[in-house]
Amino acid sequence: MQEKLQNLKQDALNLLNDVANLVQLEEWENKFLGRKSGELTNLMKGLKDLSVEVKKIVGQVANEVKQTLETAVIKKRQQLVVADFQKSINQEKVDISEPSLLANNLGHFHPNTLVQKNLEELFSSMGFLILDGPELESEYFNFESLNIPESHPARDMHDTFYIKDHKNWVLRTHTSPVQVRALQKYGAPLRAVVPGRCFRNESTDAAHEHTFYQLEGLVVDKDISISNLIGVMKELLRGVFGREVEVRLRPGFFPFVEPGFELDMKCLVCGGKGCGACKHSGWIETLPCGLIHPKVLEFGGLNPKEWSGFAFGLGLTRLVMQKYAIEDIRNLLGGDLRFLKQF
Ligand code: DAH
Repeated sequence: MQEKLQNLKQDALNLLNDVANLVQLEEWENKFLGRKSGELTNLMKGLKDLSVEVKKIVGQVANEVKQTLETAVIKKRQQLVVADFQKSINQEKVDISEPSLLANNLGHFHPNTLVQKNLEELFSSMGFLILDGPELESEYFNFESLNIPESHPARDMHDTFYIKDHKNWVLRTHTSPVQVRALQKYGAPLRAVVPGRCFRNESTDAAHEHTFYQLEGLVVDKDISISNLIGVMKELLRGVFGREVEVRLRPGFFPFVEPGFELDMKCLVCGGKGCGACKHSGWIETLPCGLIHPKVLEFGGLNPKEWSGFAFGLGLTRLVMQKYAIEDIRNLLGGDLRFLKQF
């Protein structure tokens, strides 16, 4: 019996060598190790006729044969699986000239986002916080706290969307309310910019939209002057246009700054000589700004005798249009893929 077992082992191992795929391996397993009528099982059926002592010895040999064969089959299966995998890799053909479905449909940033990220990076590098504020804003923050009382004519230019049955809430007309919110929250000194979506009740045309983006900025510290304002504005424009930009200030009225300015930059197209891009004036009106009005500092919880600051309101949407020479503002939120895919 022992001899039969050893012969069986040898036969089985020899045949296993010739097994070339997983189907053959399964056949081999059934033939030798099959639970019901495998050759080993059949042999072991004869154990019951042996005496107890002999059974013990032959039983051990049978177990050893079984284990050897089971280990061998596991190893063989691994070899076959690895070989199959290698074969499928070798056979796989990649047509590198085939257009990728994925690449064509991959999303990308909107031009607004591109410019906004660029500005956020620039201001972060100058130590500014990047802040956010609510788009549904209280009349108090949108107007009153910015020194625009209810009867003030400046409200005419900020006609917006009101919320039915909630008279004191408006879709914010600018990002300036975050000036006061930020001062109340963080106190002074403070350096922050606030990119965000704004709304006005406009009849839309190529230059006007009811929804647009601004980037508000403010710096509050001790002894802030107009020179600080000009310095930061020049740095901002240098970051945006990638070169030194000449600027000039004209008086401008905004109730929340005193003095208030319109900052113009020298036309980059003609260098100030006058051309179509600057309406032949040599200058392009770029951003409103000024020194923060003492009342606004007070609304922010600061003593205007102790603190001073400047603020500016960059028309992000307008800057995007300038940068990419977009002629119609309505393209930006129109969702037309033919437009969007150009960026
Ligand atoms: N919030 C103003 C607007 O939308 C723009 C503005 C002007 C913002 C002067 C400022 C500023 O911070 O100093 O019309």
